[in-house]
Amino acid sequence: AKTYRLAVVAGDGIGPEVVAEGLKCLAAATEGTGLAFETTEFELGAKRWHATGETLTDADLAAIRGHDVILLGAIGDPSVPSGVLERGVLLPLRFALDQYVNLRPSRLYPGEVSPLRDVTEVDFVVVREGTEGPYVGNGGALRVDTPHEIATEVSINTRHGVERVVRYAFAVAAGRERKQLTLVHKHNVLVHAGHLWRRTVEAVAPEFPTVTWDYLHIDAATIVMTTNPGKFDVIVTDNLFGDILTDQAAAISGGIGLAASANINADKTAPSMFEPVHGSAPDIAGQQKADPSATVLSVAMMLDFLGYPDLAAKVEGAVAADAAASAAGKQSGTTRTTAEVGDALAARIRG
Ligand code: IPM
Ligand code: MN
Repeated sequence: AKTYRLAVVAGDGIGPEVVAEGLKCLAAATEGTGLAFETTEFELGAKRWHATGETLTDADLAAIRGHDVILLGAIGDPSVPSGVLERGVLLPLRFALDQYVNLRPSRLYPGEVSPLRDVTEVDFVVVREGTEGPYVGNGGALRVDTPHEIATEVSINTRHGVERVVRYAFAVAAGRERKQLTLVHKHNVLVHAGHLWRRTVEAVAPEFPTVTWDYLHIDAATIVMTTNPGKFDVIVTDNLFGDILTDQAAAISGGIGLAASANINADKTAPSMFEPVHGSAPDIAGQQKADPSATVLSVAMMLDFLGYPDLAAKVEGAVAADAAASAAGKQSGTTRTTAEVGDALAARIRG
């Protein structure tokens, strides 16, 4: 028997609805296994900000550090100025907890139909750098709101930061069947950062002799992802390119409702965090319309991370079976409530 401390950040919009189903499925998966998850809920996001003006405080962060893992729903709300919660809650969690690997798998489950003509196979994982790039907030603005305004948003790429995520991506590739890694950047224009990434990949590659690697500029990568996504096995890229590419990846492989992610601190010096790729979807919040599958798949990634690949496979299998049944018209996928989908998944997990 083992007990894990799970910090739950349901957050904004549809966050609480999808997280409830994620926890339901976690309970189903761990039933009778001796595993237990002791949850602590953290009230972070728009409601807290409106009430107190606070985003993520030092006390929140210290309390969250005392947990083994974090499950997050979504952060962001139109009633708060754009950037306040993203820069105040979500990014500080990723940065302060040093979650430098943002792992985002894409898989077209059997029965699911890609919007792309002729695409029947998608199975790749994007290893997105999680703590650097243009996300760090290194910039400023001069002469704001004048015709002479200047704004900068400087991308930070450290050798340390690039090397650790590149090494992680090589290791992911080495553990997969095709063992193929693609570096995505734009080194024909972003010559400083781009060549740091390229040189780092070249330097790390010899540690992984079974892995073959190639390179694509980000613009070309979006073409390949549209015309031949089956080409990809593992992609490694920076924070912003990874953000954009993983939305495209979700769109071609079952939609954003199925896209899961893990923000991993691979050195285990702080808790890792698991969250759906989608946002808070305020337009459908509170209506039980959101698909909780991405959150449930994020729970599967959490179980895998904690060392329970069999439980993870069970949870993922339930989502895959449910998606296939929906695609085959065996259940009314569009009319089920969030909780009904969660109940169906939990039932499949229990077998
Ligand atoms: C994501 C989201 C976040 C990001 C936003 C909400 C800050 O789009 O997780 O992909 O850009 O990383
Ligand atoms: Mn995004």
